[in-house]
Amino acid sequence: MRALLSKAPGGPETLTIDTLPDPVAAPGQVVVAVKACSINYPDVLIIEDKYQLKPPRPFAPGSEIAGVVESVGAGVTEWTAGDRVIATTGSGGLVEKIALPATSLFALPDGRSFAEGASLLLTYGTTIHALLDRGHLAEGQSMLVLGAAGGVGLAAIELGKAFGAWVVAAVSSDEKAQAARDAGADETIVYARAPFDKDQSKALAEQFKAAGGMGGYDVIYDPVGGDYAEPALRSIGWEGRYLVVGFPAGIPKLPLNLTLLKSCDVCGVFWGAFAARDPQANRAHIDRLFRLWKDGKIMPRVTETFAFEDGGKAIAKMAARGAIGKLVVTVAEG
Ligand SMILES: NC(=O)c1ccc[n+]([C@@H]2O[C@H](COP(=O)([O-])OP(=O)(O)OC[C@H]3O[C@@H](n4cnc5c(N)ncnc54)[C@H](OP(=O)(O)O)[C@@H]3O)[C@@H](O)[C@H]2O)c1
Repeated sequence: MRALLSKAPGGPETLTIDTLPDPVAAPGQVVVAVKACSINYPDVLIIEDKYQLKPPRPFAPGSEIAGVVESVGAGVTEWTAGDRVIATTGSGGLVEKIALPATSLFALPDGRSFAEGASLLLTYGTTIHALLDRGHLAEGQSMLVLGAAGGVGLAAIELGKAFGAWVVAAVSSDEKAQAARDAGADETIVYARAPFDKDQSKALAEQFKAAGGMGGYDVIYDPVGGDYAEPALRSIGWEGRYLVVGFPAGIPKLPLNLTLLKSCDVCGVFWGAFAARDPQANRAHIDRLFRLWKDGKIMPRVTETFAFEDGGKAIAKMAARGAIGKLVVTVAEG
């Protein structure tokens, strides 16, 4: 089978299509013929050895797939050849076939495309965990979303609206602001591009505060980090929850006096570890996501698809801050 492989640490241009032996389903496993693999920010980091997981090389990036069950291993009763499925993979998704634990698969609902299916679990799974378990977001509360037109950002807007929050979306361009409004944001802020000096940082805090109203935000969803984090924290409300989701703009340092002044919480979010530690709670979240999807409250937004050979270009576009919603690699037509 063909695979898009990382053979040495480096950028997306170092990835090459190569041939690997077809996987065989071990007991408890299912082999899936991959149709689509969506790109997530960890793909940018993992090929450069900058992510918390470091798979042995050669490996294929790609952490989220949709496809068709090709064969099942001994003891697998819940899946049969031909079933349409989706799964998160950690890495290894940019391949024609992948062996996965049967328990890690979810059925792709009828009428949904492989591209949409490959764009659900990671972004919305992270975000529903962040908003409910870590952020305790409640109806009528306010939320600021940074990087709001990215993968997890759009998911935060949609889920925030589905849970009855008032959502302010902050992004770096007018085009991204439009995408955020299309996803349901109540208000948008277009911020400048970091780095910021002290005055620019203060001005950004004022921009966040002005959009948030007198009380400040109940929840801040931050998948961006860097110079954006401190100005955002300055706009939080009394007993607010600041959700630490990711750092494409760099790992920030925060003055802890800000947390005392607002009696607020800074909450780490690590969805993969949560899902491994509490699979039942994660499954309940995913079941809820499927219901919200069916009811039209959430809708994975695939804005661009790439041929398998061009998978590196999709990762490069995300690394260059160019992705809106989800970028999806078509591994095989289906
Ligand atoms: N904690 C978890 O469990 C978990 C799970 C999934 C993902 N994540 C993390 O969440 C973050 C976002 O992931 P994603 O897949 O949604 O990525 P994405 O679609 O690329 O979104 C990231 C956003 O960050 C903003 N950004 C600011 N500075 C940037 C820079 N220098 N380079 C690139 N983007 C920059 C961009 O929005 P603007 O241009 O509008 O600023 C971009 O839309 C990543 O750090 C990822 O690792 C964490």
